[in-house]
Amino acid sequence: MLAERPDLSGLYNHIRDELDRVEESLKMLSSSANPLIAEISRYLFQKKGKRIRPALLILCSKLLRYRGDDHIFMAALIEFIHTASLIHDDIIDNADRRRGRDSVHTRWGPNISVLLGDYLYIKSIGLSLESDYPGVVRILTDVSSRMIDGELTEYSLSGHLDTAEPDYLEVINKKTASLFAAACQIGAVLGEATPEQERLLVDYGRNLGLTFQMIDDLLDFQGDEDELGKPVLSDLSEGRITLPLIYALRTGRPANRRRLQALMRKKAQSRESRKEILEIIRGNGALDYTYRKAEGFSLRARGLVSLFPDSAHREALSLLAEFVLIRSR
Ligand code: FPP
Ligand code: MG
Repeated sequence: MLAERPDLSGLYNHIRDELDRVEESLKMLSSSANPLIAEISRYLFQKKGKRIRPALLILCSKLLRYRGDDHIFMAALIEFIHTASLIHDDIIDNADRRRGRDSVHTRWGPNISVLLGDYLYIKSIGLSLESDYPGVVRILTDVSSRMIDGELTEYSLSGHLDTAEPDYLEVINKKTASLFAAACQIGAVLGEATPEQERLLVDYGRNLGLTFQMIDDLLDFQGDEDELGKPVLSDLSEGRITLPLIYALRTGRPANRRRLQALMRKKAQSRESRKEILEIIRGNGALDYTYRKAEGFSLRARGLVSLFPDSAHREALSLLAEFVLIRSR
């Protein structure tokens, strides 16, 4: 029986061997005769992330009783794309920490980091061409362009205080939820899903991804820096307009809204300004609103997966949707 409050190790239990093989695969596929690629890849893959995307791909394939071996390789490709996107994202966001350590650009500088991100990304696409599933190449290239589209839209909306909730949803759908959906879709393709099953799993992944990113944005306001292993209040300092701020700017008392606008328009925010913004947002109920929205997406994800026959893998997918909602890291 899994614990009431799901943790990742509990819900990964019955795919533990497979996830260990993904780790080996990541190390093997990223090994290189080039000393810089080898060194940075070791740095990247020696410390495990949450591996949610590989787990999703594996669980979706197994939900459909997939019995082959290609899910390990495909899971590694998805994690390569995720890792590449984080290397680039940390440069764009000026984030100096990731997973409790220096981000790649802090240690190696932006020039090398851009190239390393490009390398991992193109390596993933190249390797996918070697698989027996031509449809997977299309899924990986489509998701990559969607992520870049989302990241660019987010960047161009930075500092725009008139950003609306649908703009925000579009950004997080593209930059984050699309990769969750792609992981589920590849699992579905491996498991020879019917078009309806594939649609349900893609939709499940999308709702899970939306939950994940909303909680990520919530944790940026109220998370613990050490537990998260990355900076907090960083969206504010980079002018990123996420849901708590959008809500407070839309629904706050007029005086608070004016104050928020004035604080956000400052070029460089002081610690005190960020604290004041946080207090206004807390007082306004914007954090609760964001959590409730995320909960709605998590419930939708669980509803979608409940349409599959009962199994341990279905249970794990359902718990994963709960985990991404209540996580603190
Ligand atoms: C993290 O968001 C960033 C993403 C989910 C996507 C980043 C995508 C790109 C940089 C496009 C390039 C893509 C490829 C395939 C190379 P966040 O900044 O809100 O989360 P964080 O707090 O973890 O940094
Ligand atoms: Mg970031």
